[in-house]
Amino acid sequence: MRDKRAIITGGSKGIGRAIVERLIKEGWQVCTCSRKEEDLRRLKEELGNPQSLYIRACDVGDRVSVMEFVRFCVQNMGRIDLLVNNASLLGERVSIENYPEDVWEEVIRVNVNGVFYMTKYAIPHMNSGSVIVNMSSGAGKRPAPYWGAYAVSKFGIEGFSLLLAEELKDKNIRVYAFNPGATKTQMRAKAYPHEDPTTLKPPEKVADFILRLISSKVPSGSYDYNE
Ligand SMILES: NC(=O)c1ccc[n+]([C@@H]2O[C@H](COP(=O)([O-])OP(=O)(O)OC[C@H]3O[C@@H](n4cnc5c(N)ncnc54)[C@H](OP(=O)(O)O)[C@@H]3O)[C@@H](O)[C@H]2O)c1
Repeated sequence: MRDKRAIITGGSKGIGRAIVERLIKEGWQVCTCSRKEEDLRRLKEELGNPQSLYIRACDVGDRVSVMEFVRFCVQNMGRIDLLVNNASLLGERVSIENYPEDVWEEVIRVNVNGVFYMTKYAIPHMNSGSVIVNMSSGAGKRPAPYWGAYAVSKFGIEGFSLLLAEELKDKNIRVYAFNPGATKTQMRAKAYPHEDPTTLKPPEKVADFILRLISSKVPSGSYDYNE
């Protein structure tokens, strides 16, 4: 799988970063974003300044920012073989009754609109055989009380992925909604502040699973991480 090109959103930390590192090691060209330019510069430096890694700050919930980011990626890589919509926000873990409206709107903006914009602008640059992975969650598959906008956004991502898979069938582009399960990241620590993080799998295991998923050519659909 050499000479492949990928966009990974939210590549500065957590699962996104592990996917970026893994793909660079495998010889891919990778274009990644997060909201903080300095975190991206640090990432590139820590990986040894690979020429095959393109970084640019982008807020995935802002359509102009996404349009410019995709243009930047295509200028550098020419095409997109893999899009991983990974960036997302947790929001607050409170009841619907107590959920702050501004946090709700921000989570939906980033987690739902962000996936729509990135996908819409990337599709014209994806050829037959390309793959889209949308990071979902167990909270998007069964009722998750007190997960509010995050859970609703991930239910949205599950539905979005299934309809997109149907639309892209004729173009031979596969679409996966993928639930990584409990993984040692900052988001997980925020969601479960009293949990012992040493009991969790590292994000590298998720990156490994995603690589196997995309190279196995299993049909489009909704998948969960398993050992
Ligand atoms: N960790 C888990 O246990 C777990 C379980 C189920 C599902 N997931 C899903 O897996 C994915 C990765 O989670 P994670 O735990 O690795 O999260 P994380 O540690 O919080 O990392 C999230 C990444 O997304 C970026 N990001 C956030 N908002 C953004 C925006 N508006 N525009 C661009 N980038 C943005 C963050 O950088 P900045 O903040 O600097 O922008 C960061 O690079 C998410 O979709 C999450 O819902 C995770």
